[in-house]
Amino acid sequence: EKGEYKHFMLKEIYEQPKTILDTLRGRLLISDGLICIDGIESNKEIFINAKCITIVACGTSWHSSLIGEYLLEELARIPVKVEYASEFRYRNPIIEEQNIVIVISQSGETADTIAALKLAKKKGAFVFGICNVAGSYIARNVDAGAYTHAGPEIGVASTKSFTSQITVLFLLALKIGKYRSTITNIRYEFLCKELISVPEKMNFTLKIDNNIQKISKLYHHVNNFLYLGRGINFPVSLEGALKLKEISYIHAEGYPAGEMKHGPIALIDENMPVVVIATKKGYYEKIIGNIQEIKARKGKIIAIVNEGDIQASKLADHIIEIPIISEELSPLITIIPLQLLAYQIAYLRGKNVDRPRNLAKSVTVE
Ligand code: M6R
Repeated sequence: EKGEYKHFMLKEIYEQPKTILDTLRGRLLISDGLICIDGIESNKEIFINAKCITIVACGTSWHSSLIGEYLLEELARIPVKVEYASEFRYRNPIIEEQNIVIVISQSGETADTIAALKLAKKKGAFVFGICNVAGSYIARNVDAGAYTHAGPEIGVASTKSFTSQITVLFLLALKIGKYRSTITNIRYEFLCKELISVPEKMNFTLKIDNNIQKISKLYHHVNNFLYLGRGINFPVSLEGALKLKEISYIHAEGYPAGEMKHGPIALIDENMPVVVIATKKGYYEKIIGNIQEIKARKGKIIAIVNEGDIQASKLADHIIEIPIISEELSPLITIIPLQLLAYQIAYLRGKNVDRPRNLAKSVTVE
């Protein structure tokens, strides 16, 4: 039930502090410095000896896979490739010994992801699944896996699944990093503590909804939006753009901020709002440079900044302040204003937020 919320999507956005706790329940025993994930523990050697990981998914799950790539490479030092399931299934992918394939799917029923899973198994890969729906096809057919425990997601636009998938990937990366000794104990303990702080920081971030409603009123009539981020927040810019196009039908593109000058900058004029993820960690100075370039071309800047930010805030037309958190966990916070922005704009445009045209919750046919 939607309860006090106008739409399931809004309810699911607001549920995220709780769903993260559900994802962590029984898995993060911070007092003992332990992360418990059965699917990893019972296959410890496979993960320790992995030469390469390929992550396969579609849509929002593909975006969380890109964040997983960053986390697994950074913390577990295993090379990672991310593939669209629809492409992977029709290629002749190279799967060698000691390669792991991770499939990510909220529904566990996406046709392309199922086909990719079958191909990976046929090629002899060890397949690990990250699913939300218990007992789904993918959950039943992987060699091992971890549920996201986000609860039923009704809105067609995926929100709480995205953050719960990132949380599982973060736990995997930390656990495998610990097994492989690619992360120091100090960093491991620090990141576990940071992880515990996520639900509270999400709650705090959700309070910016009023500010986002004001910004949405100014921009809900535009035809185009650009989203920029760097590093681990580049996939967040892709996800922010996907949310907006899915439910408001506004054309939106996500880009790595550094790529702007290789093309998209030609689009920028006074009619182009640009959402820039400009949090303190992660190439802040570079992002400031990008913001200056947008400003020089009269683009309208909506900057996601950390509390107490000065530089980006001076340049931006609008600022959305969020709490400071480690770079590795920042997508869990930076995505919240982007989900709310997409929701508020679609709502003002009078769109059917929970059931956007032409889309189904799970794409079970090709
Ligand atoms: O159930 P899955 O995670 O496999 O679904 C993948 C995509 O179809 C899904 O994420 C889609 O892109 C959503 N509508 C995004 O909001």
